[in-house]
Amino acid sequence: MQVDGRDVKRIMVAGGAGFIGSNFIRSVHRRFPAVDVLNYDKLTYAGNLENLEGIEGHYAFVQGDIRDAAAVEKALAGVDVLVNFAAETHVDRSIHDPGDFILTDVYGVFVLLEAVRRNGAVRRFVHVSTDEVYGSIAEGRFSEESPLNPSSPYSASKAGGDRLAYSYFRTFGLPVIIARPANNYGPYQYPEKLIPFFVTRALQDFPLPLYGDGSNRRDWLFVEDTVAGILALIEKGEPGLAYNLGADQERSNSEVTRLILEILGKPGSLVRAVADRRGHDFRYALDWERMKGLGWRPGVGFEEGLRRTVEWYLKHEGWWRRLVEKKAFRSHVRKNYE
Ligand code: NAD
Ligand code: TYD
Repeated sequence: MQVDGRDVKRIMVAGGAGFIGSNFIRSVHRRFPAVDVLNYDKLTYAGNLENLEGIEGHYAFVQGDIRDAAAVEKALAGVDVLVNFAAETHVDRSIHDPGDFILTDVYGVFVLLEAVRRNGAVRRFVHVSTDEVYGSIAEGRFSEESPLNPSSPYSASKAGGDRLAYSYFRTFGLPVIIARPANNYGPYQYPEKLIPFFVTRALQDFPLPLYGDGSNRRDWLFVEDTVAGILALIEKGEPGLAYNLGADQERSNSEVTRLILEILGKPGSLVRAVADRRGHDFRYALDWERMKGLGWRPGVGFEEGLRRTVEWYLKHEGWWRRLVEKKAFRSHVRKNYE
């Protein structure tokens, strides 16, 4: 891996024990075995070192909070590239309990930026934002120049972190690149998000709480494609710019649910219409021409990606059962969907 024609020796992955972060570390290990990886993660309810099973010993791990300036400063020693995945990430949780979203997704990003500024030797800081910062769009697509108009405490916090990162490029010349991916799915996704939630619920013959009439739409990007996009951004992205990572694989939530049930051979009677999410964004859709300019394009279509994802959950029953059987997960489900 190279940045500005020089080899990258050490990469720090904040949030590397989560869903996308752990897939990213696997990919770095596979594609760039000479690069040292430091996984810096607080291990919140969503962080899980089991996500890195099979590559233990191939990365260093520090259990730390991105809001802890002294710990971040220490971890950054010798780091050439920082990628930040660490965040509170679930919209439904942000509706009940927004405090940690502000503290991690805004203040935590500020702490990382300050540490990078003081460190002076970090050559790229890829900050992972989200397509949700634009808010909902009934028709057409958002480009990187579209105004940000987030609707949930989650997406508003992410928009804060996103623009704060940009301000450190503008004001202090930090080599910040911002990634705005669409909805991700794939192996190791925490079972609170739509696809793994419904797959694991259906496998237990539990009802699937579908919001409203199920017509809300998302663009679905397979996690391996996101990871490839972030690697492309490290090597070829232009500091100061934001990059949309879309998939052109838009589906309604009803379609996603029907496909999951079809793959699993489970009945449609499992679906339960529940009262709509407050502030529910109807549709996300991205123009991702800028990423095409870097030679990136997603390689996995939705039906194939969903099949691979479902197979992964079928094969890794112990992994998800250990999560969904926790008391805190059960009470999250009761609070939000029952
Ligand atoms: P995740 O919830 O699976 O993982 C988040 C990780 O961050 C966990 O390992 C957690 O322990 C860690 N973390 C949380 N707070 C921390 C803190 N204060 N200090 C250190 N570590 C902390 O999330 P994900 O789905 O892998 O998402 C990764 C990033 O990508 C997030 O920034 C998210 O906003 C963004 N994103 C996700 C999606 C998606 O569909 N999953 C789509 C677009 C963007
Ligand atoms: P989610 O996975 O929470 O991602 P996001 O809201 O960040 O896009 O939800 C994806 C879509 O699925 C969203 O429109 C809300 C809907 N949804 C349900 O209908 N029921 C559920 O139990 C969940 C978790 C989501």
